[in-house]
Amino acid sequence: MPTKIEKDSVTGRETTGHEWDGLKELNTPLPRWWLTLFYVTIAFAVVWVILYPAIPVSGLRGLTGWTARGALGPEIQAEQAKQAPMLAKLRTATPAQIAADPELRNYALAGGRIAFANNCAACHGAGGQGAPGGFPSLADDDWLYGGSFDAIRFTIEHGVRNGEDAEARGIAMPRFLADGMLNAGQVNDVADYVLSLSGRATDAAAAGRGETVFAENCVACHGERGEGNREMGAPRLSDQVWLYGGDRPSVLRSIGYAHAGVMPAWGKRLDPAVINMLTVYVHALGGGE
Ligand code: HEC
Ligand code: HEC
Repeated sequence: MPTKIEKDSVTGRETTGHEWDGLKELNTPLPRWWLTLFYVTIAFAVVWVILYPAIPVSGLRGLTGWTARGALGPEIQAEQAKQAPMLAKLRTATPAQIAADPELRNYALAGGRIAFANNCAACHGAGGQGAPGGFPSLADDDWLYGGSFDAIRFTIEHGVRNGEDAEARGIAMPRFLADGMLNAGQVNDVADYVLSLSGRATDAAAAGRGETVFAENCVACHGERGEGNREMGAPRLSDQVWLYGGDRPSVLRSIGYAHAGVMPAWGKRLDPAVINMLTVYVHALGGGE
């Protein structure tokens, strides 16, 4: 290692003494202003770590005791205080009253949309359009239990066949084939009759026999002409809207083995103000009565 400090003959600057293939490295120190700034940032970081929470160990706070969550507290409280009177109104008013008041209605639609996305969309679809396998559309005017404010609110509050709420809606349809109440021939015939109710071409003789089976086994719940019954949640069978599919195999399966769609009761899970907002939101999806 050469220790002698040399001057570069071209620039007149000192070299570091390092040399590669005849090229010598110039010694160019960092500017003083840059170094000063560098030391200032180090000092700043040390002071920061002492004053503010910087080390990711829970409970280790800076001397000031500041936390991001704590700083947000007053803002959250102010926001809640601002919303409290509105929520109180939404809690005590009926959904019909809310829908009639433009300010309350707007608030309920916005809040209802969020509550729907959080609690209902998994089963009923993001826009309430329903899903195959027994999850009804809430955006059409075909209602199992009714589309009035009161009916919708009751369904949301108590749910359907959930075994947790004594007032839950819906009764169970018998499993005609599985429980031996009808034989396979009779199930076939009554399926033909059911398909004929919505205008599908079927075997006329089978549908004729099926009409008798229907009269004896089905009208108590589904009505004389398959028009459905909202008290029981028995769907209308004479339209094109199907919970479990309207093709022949699906209808056969519904009759032979039955379904029992379940919806949780939201009365114990959600604030009454939220249930009211959801009611107004669902009612406004398109099919409110
Ligand atoms: C676990 C799935 C599930 C969730 C979550 C759910 N539902 Fe339902 N919902 C159902 C099923 C299944 C039915 C139909 C029950 C039947 O077959 O009778 C139903 C029926 C309904 C009905 C009656 C529709 C009609 O035609 O009368 C309304 C209204 C309703 N749900 C609203 C809601 C709202 C609002 C929420 C969110 C708070 C919600 N549901 C959450 C499964 C669910
Ligand atoms: C005790 C009342 C009851 C009786 C009796 C009954 N059903 Fe049902 N049925 C229901 C209910 C309730 C549903 C809806 C089940 C659900 O939502 O999960 C249903 C659903 C159906 C469906 C499916 C509809 C769809 O939209 O997918 C068909 C098809 C059907 N029933 C046909 C029949 C036929 C045919 C008979 C007579 C052989 C019959 N039901 C007897 C109550 C009944």
